[in-house]
Order: sequence, then structure tokens, then C-alpha cells
Amino acid sequence: MIRLTSIVVGLLFAAALFWSFLLGAITVSHDGLPHTVEHAFHKEVKDVSFASDGPFGRFDRQQLQRGFQVYSEVCSACHSLSRVAFRDLKALGYSDDEVKAIALKQQIPAYNAATGEVKSHPGLPTDHFPPVVYGGQGSPPDLSLITKAREGGGRYPYSLITGYADQVGYKNDKGEELLKEFPDAKTPTGLHFNPYFANLNIAMPPPLVADGQVTYSDGTKATVDQMAKDVSAFLIWTAEPKLEKRKQTGWPVLGFLLFATVLGYFAYRNVWRNQKH
Ligand code: HEC
Repeated sequence: MIRLTSIVVGLLFAAALFWSFLLGAITVSHDGLPHTVEHAFHKEVKDVSFASDGPFGRFDRQQLQRGFQVYSEVCSACHSLSRVAFRDLKALGYSDDEVKAIALKQQIPAYNAATGEVKSHPGLPTDHFPPVVYGGQGSPPDLSLITKAREGGGRYPYSLITGYADQVGYKNDKGEELLKEFPDAKTPTGLHFNPYFANLNIAMPPPLVADGQVTYSDGTKATVDQMAKDVSAFLIWTAEPKLEKRKQTGWPVLGFLLFATVLGYFAYRNVWRNQKH
């Protein structure tokens, strides 16, 4: 009886799985998604690779320093980096003195509980990046964790920064023209058309517009593409500074588990050695 019940339950379970698979397949083949401008024209992130990708990925410290430079000279005008302390930058290969000098250039607001005043002091290595006062349109998010907060990780800021386009005449991969399909979807004034942004119209003006916008000290040519890659690599680091350690720990752990499995198997063979099957 128990056997019969479990067979029936199993069959029901399999039938339910099959049914939901069938429904999903039918929906997809009928393209049941609503035909909105976002569905039709939003683009997936660009295919760009970073040194930190993959199971053996490591940060390219030169690139992280260049990315930090792009952040400092361009993005920091609007975006804060509140989760990062100056002393964390030592992981990019800066010396103690360099970190001190970087911190000193910043003014850190501090609340004095005794007087109720907010006073600023020059940054110390233990301080975090200060908040940014922004007066323009939209609200620039803090960038510390942005590569974890958006699909595509580090590829997202790269695609976004290099992905601004002219909306007039813009076509998707199917050759449909945006303003012909959706005449009402014109980008409002003050916003900028960018097919990599979720709703296609972003308040951020293109931040990297000209080659040579920053001057790299390591001789790398500062093309827009290079700067966008470098700052994205830097933002992968800010969101997961322990990435290398995590990946490096993974391999010994896998090795140990494999070893333990083999040991377990031989222990099993040994224990049951004299039993008849
Ligand atoms: C002039 C100010 C300004 C500068 C400079 C600037 N941004 Fe922005 N950024 C914004 C604003 C405003 C938003 C919010 C956009 C919105 O929500 O429509 C934003 C949003 C973003 C987003 C998040 C988009 C999302 O999906 O929510 C990323 C990533 C970003 N900026 C990266 C950068 C990087 C990297 C730089 C430097 C290369 C930079 N920004 C420079 C103003 C700026």
C-alpha cells in the first residue's frame, strides 16, 4: 500500500512538473510578454572580460589604480563611495604614505555630539570616502556595491558608460526603429537615451566623452573604452575586495572534499568487507 501511494505521489509530482514546463514552453513560443518599449529596446550588457573573471580570476592592480583615478577625477563629482575606507586602497598596491596623502585631500564631515555641530577635518586613512553633495537632476547612487546590485556585474557600468546612443533612428537587433514603433517614447529633456539603462532614459549625462579625459601615469592610453573598463574593474573591487581570497580558498576546499569522499568510500568498503550483499 505504501509502495502504491508513493508511486502515485511520484507520478503526480512528475505530471505537475511536466504540466508547468509545457505551460512555460507554450507562453514563450507565443511571446506572451507585453510589447513595451523597454522589452523591445533594452539591451543586455556588453560582452567584456575582466582579469578577475572566472575561477582563477585575479585583480589587475595597475588597472584598479587607473580605475580609482577615473573614479576620483570624474565619477566622484556626483557619486559617493561610502563603503570604502581610504586604508582599503592599500589592496590596490598603494603605500601607507600614498594612502595618507589620498585621504588628506578629502574633507570628512564629522558630527560632534557635545556641541551638535558638524565640522570637517582632513581625511585619515581610517575614514571612509565622504558623502557627495549633488545638485543636478536625478540622484546618483553610491557606487560601492553597484556591481553587485545590477545584473551583469562589472559589465554593467562599462556598458552603461559606453552605451549612450542617439535615440533618433535608433534600431534594435531586429531592425525595428524605436521612434517608429513607439512615437511617444521620446526621451524627456534633461534625460539621456541609453539602451543599457532599465527604462532607457537616464539622468546621468555621459560621464566619459573624450579620449584623454584623465592622464594615466602608467602610460596606458586613456581611450573612453579603456577608462570605462578600468573604472568598472575598480567597482568590481569595491563591491568585493575579498574576491581573490574567496576564489583561492575554493580550490583547497574542493580538493579536501574530494579527498574526504575517497576516504569515505574506502572506509565504507572496509566496514562492509565481510558482509554478503
Ligand atoms: C554629473 C554627475 C555624474 C557623473 C560625473 C557621473 N554620474 Fe553616474 N549617475 C548620475 C546620476 C544623476 C545617476 C542616476 C541616474 C538615474 O537614476 O536616472 C547616475 C547613475 C549611475 C549608475 C547607476 C545606474 C543604475 O542602474 O541605477 C552608475 C553605474 C553610474 N552612474 C556610474 C558612473 C560612473 C562609473 C561614473 C564615472 C565614470 C559616473 N557615473 C559619473 C550622475 C553622474
